[in-house]
Amino acid sequence: MPDYKIAPSILSADFARLGEEVDNVLKSGADIVHFDVMDNHYVPNLTIGPLICDALRKHGVSAEIDVHLMVKPVDGIVPDFAKAGASYITFHPEASEHVDRTLQLIKAEGCKSGLVFNPATPLDYLNYVIDKVDMVLLMSVNPGFGGQSFIPSALDKLREARKIIDASGRDIRLEIDGGVKVNNIRDIAEAGADTFVAGSAIFGAAQDSDPNDYDSVVQAMRDELAKV
Ligand code: DX5
Ligand code: ZN
Repeated sequence: MPDYKIAPSILSADFARLGEEVDNVLKSGADIVHFDVMDNHYVPNLTIGPLICDALRKHGVSAEIDVHLMVKPVDGIVPDFAKAGASYITFHPEASEHVDRTLQLIKAEGCKSGLVFNPATPLDYLNYVIDKVDMVLLMSVNPGFGGQSFIPSALDKLREARKIIDASGRDIRLEIDGGVKVNNIRDIAEAGADTFVAGSAIFGAAQDSDPNDYDSVVQAMRDELAKV
């Protein structure tokens, strides 16, 4: 079985209790913290920046933090996130004037790098920069909001990306982001993803009786992945 990783998107967490939310979701068996950065320019929403990433590190979060930049321009904020403790920094190629340079910058700052492909963005960029990429992130919704429905054509695109990654022989994670739920995660894994972002499916699953309990939803996702 591939080394599957579940990456809860804290976009759907209770921001007033963010440290506690992240602790609880990691305690429930999630692997990576997916950190959505939106700038009300590249995408029509405004979220969180390096200060919050730093605060999570200071709170004691030691899991990998996967910073998904939905900002334009990109380069200025990269060193700030590196200093704030980002593990991965991924960005949308349309948002950078010089994609290769931005990838080099992320690596030079000591982070793992990734490119994010919107539903209608072709994978062609990978032909030229795959040697500088540690993560390929396919959007299965248009970026900007949590709680949207999975766009089915992302499955074919995952198969295409999986082929490209395997042919490269490189150690590159294939992440999917948007509309991932217990009832589709298996199909998504079968199409080639190994890293699964889920926001509303995880943070929306806590019961009123126990708002801190993410065990059952994370376990349900693992059970589905075990069937692949
Ligand atoms: C959307 C973000 C996602 C979002 C996913 O632009 O990149 O990470 O939080 O949310 P769900 O899992 O609810 O679709
Ligand atoms: Zn994201």
